[in-house]
Amino acid sequence: MQISDSSSRILAGLLEARTGQQLTMSRRWRLETALSALLRERGISTLDELITILVMGKEPNLSQRVVEALLNNETYFFRDRSPFDLLACHALPELAQRRKDQRKLKIWSAGCSTGQEVYSLAMLFAEQPDAWRGWTIDILGTDVSTGCIDRARSGAYTQFEVQRGLGINQMIRWFEEAPDGWRAVEPLRKPVRFQVHNLLEMPPHPGGFDIVLCRNVLLYLSAEKRILAFERLAGAMAEDGWLMLGAGETVIGQTNKLGADLKARGLYRLTGDGTRIEKRQTDRRNSATGA
Ligand SMILES: C[S@@+](CC[C@H](N)C(=O)[O-])C[C@H]1O[C@@H](n2cnc3c(N)ncnc32)[C@H](O)[C@@H]1O
Repeated sequence: MQISDSSSRILAGLLEARTGQQLTMSRRWRLETALSALLRERGISTLDELITILVMGKEPNLSQRVVEALLNNETYFFRDRSPFDLLACHALPELAQRRKDQRKLKIWSAGCSTGQEVYSLAMLFAEQPDAWRGWTIDILGTDVSTGCIDRARSGAYTQFEVQRGLGINQMIRWFEEAPDGWRAVEPLRKPVRFQVHNLLEMPPHPGGFDIVLCRNVLLYLSAEKRILAFERLAGAMAEDGWLMLGAGETVIGQTNKLGADLKARGLYRLTGDGTRIEKRQTDRRNSATGA
């Protein structure tokens, strides 16, 4: 199936306007594959015909479906594994200390796709019930795709999906058999909630997140949109919170609001506020020692 340059530009423009994601030339080759199921479902025979319907604006839901079909939703449980070890061994023990009076943690996964990242986080807590007993853990997953959020909310995964990233023991412990595969058990679903949200808009309620994950989302944003995204992410963090990006993503050279946490490679902190925290800790130590 051929697609004209002008049609592919219209699709790229639509995607970028709604999500900030750019369709690189290499991704433009995949337009046809990405949209084939939607074309079949709607009985539309060519991409150019789809564009004509879009431009006429007679089917308001169609443009959202097109955008969702063009997004890259690749994800799996404990993706890249080591970031979760970093959270479990560094960030969570430190937060357990710092928040021991409030006993409340807020985590935001921005661009959570179908929810595997969020349920992986929930597993970190569920696997240490004694450490987190009496704590309120709020893990919010957001994505610009309504289809992804519906799936994430259901907590239901196919056999193939549930096996990607989970060992057999984790799968049996945290998922129960469901009609079409597996469904996350109640203790895993309890701390999580999901919401449709565009990362480029104001951060979701309640803000002040102790940990923000935005992994494998910023890669295809234009430089300008990426700056905006970092502003939104920074604005959503607690002053002593952490940001985690995907492998191959960095804040370096992209924003001055965030900087690498020198004690935990792969985690980022607010620069201004982070400095204040380091300073407060040093001040406290100095006053304790009389220095
Ligand atoms: C490749 S997936 C990554 C999922 C997960 N974070 C991971 O690393 O496995 C990227 C997700 O970001 C979402 N996304 C893209 N642009 C977004 C935006 N502007 N706001 C919120 N989500 C967005 C996509 O819909 C997609 O589900």
